[in-house]
Amino acid sequence: MTKGIIISGGWGTRLRPLTCTIPKSLIPVVNEPVIERQILLLKAVGIKDIILAVSVMSDVLKAYFGDGDKLGINIQYTDEKSPLGTAGAIKLAEDYIKDENFFMLNGDVILNFDFKEIIQAHARYKGLGVIASKVISDPSRYGVLIIDEDTNKITKFLEKTEYVPPKEMTISMPINAGVYLLEPEILTYIEPKKRVSIEKEVFPILADEGKLYYYPIPGIWKDIGKPEELLEGNIQLMNDIINNQKEKKENIIEENLKIEENVVINSPVAIGKNVVLKKNCKIGPNVIIGDNVHIGTYTEIKDTLIYNEAHISENVKCEKTIIADNCLIHDGVQLIGNNQNLVILSSYVEVMDNVKLVAPSKASLSVCHHDVVRLDVS
Ligand code: GTP
Repeated sequence: MTKGIIISGGWGTRLRPLTCTIPKSLIPVVNEPVIERQILLLKAVGIKDIILAVSVMSDVLKAYFGDGDKLGINIQYTDEKSPLGTAGAIKLAEDYIKDENFFMLNGDVILNFDFKEIIQAHARYKGLGVIASKVISDPSRYGVLIIDEDTNKITKFLEKTEYVPPKEMTISMPINAGVYLLEPEILTYIEPKKRVSIEKEVFPILADEGKLYYYPIPGIWKDIGKPEELLEGNIQLMNDIINNQKEKKENIIEENLKIEENVVINSPVAIGKNVVLKKNCKIGPNVIIGDNVHIGTYTEIKDTLIYNEAHISENVKCEKTIIADNCLIHDGVQLIGNNQNLVILSSYVEVMDNVKLVAPSKASLSVCHHDVVRLDVS
C-alpha cells in the first residue's frame, strides 16, 4: 500500500520571526496548518500510513498530530538530530517506505488537487518517479524541469543555482513543485547518515538516466517559503475553496460569528470560529481571520492574515500585514505593508496606542514574538 512521507524538518529561516515559535509546516493557511491539508489530500486517495520526517521543533509537530488518530490515519516520525537534507530525511525513513512506492511532499506547499491523477500518471509511465510541477513565470528560485513533450520524460533537472533566466526577461518554465510519487529504488541513490539534497544530488542523476516523469499540477500551487508568498498563498487557497464550494458563497465563514451593525465585509474573506466584528469595522477584501479574534469599532483591515486569539482594538488600520496568534493591537494603530514587503507581527506581540508601523520599500518590517512596540517605525 502506497505510503506518504512529508518532510517538515527545515529551519524555515525565510519565514522568521513567524517560525521562531511554530514549525513552518504548522503555519495555518486559511485557518488549517499547511501540512494538515496535505495529510488530508493523501488520506483522500486511501493512504493510511504517513511518516513525518521532522527535526527542527519536532516536539511541537509530535504534540499536534500524535499518532494521527484525530485525523483517522497512522502517523509515524523519523527524527533527525539536525536536518539531514531533503534526501537524507527520507533515507532515514527507509524501513517505513522501502516496500512500495510512496508520496514525498515538501511540508510547506499549498495544494488543492486530487492525488489520484499522479498515481495514474506514475502507473502509465512506469519510471522511478513522477515529479509534480507548475509552470511559473519567474522560475529562478526553483529547480527547473526540461521535458520531452512527447513522452513527458524529464530530460534534465536543473537545481536553482544552475538555472539563471536571461536578465529583464520573464520566462515561464515548469518547476519542481516539491510533490513526488517515487519508487523505493530511489533510496539506493542516497548515502545513509549524511546530509543529502534530493534536488541537488539525486534528481539530476535520475533525470540524466531518463527515469523521471513530469506531472502538471492542475489548480493552485504555492510554496510558503517567504512572508509575501504565505499571504498570497492564503488568498489563492481561499479563492480556490470559495470557487469550489457546492453552495455558492462569497466568503468562508465558520460558526459563531458575532457581527454588529454597519460592519462592511468586502469579499473574499475567511473568518474562523467565535470571531467578533464590532460595529462600523470594515473587513476585506483578502482577509483571513483565525478563531477567537476580536476586531474593534471602526477598524479597517484588508490584504491581511490574522491568526487565532488576536485582539485588535478600535480605529486600527491593517494592510498587507501578518498578525500571528495572541497579538494585542491597541487603539489607533496603523500597520501598513506594501506589495513585496509586509508588516509581520510574531506571536504575543503588543502594539501600543496610535503606533504606526510602515514596511519600508526594500524589506518587510518584522516584530519578534512577545515584543511590545511603543514607537513608530517606517
Ligand atoms: P528556509 O530556511 O527558509 O529555506 O526553509 P526550510 O529550511 O524549510 O527549507 P526549504 O524551504 O527548502 O524546505 C522545503 C521543505 O523541506 C520544508 O517542508 C522543510 O521543512 C523541509 N526540509 C528542508 N530541509 C530539511 C531537512 O534537512 N530535513 C527534513 N526532515 N526536512 C527538511
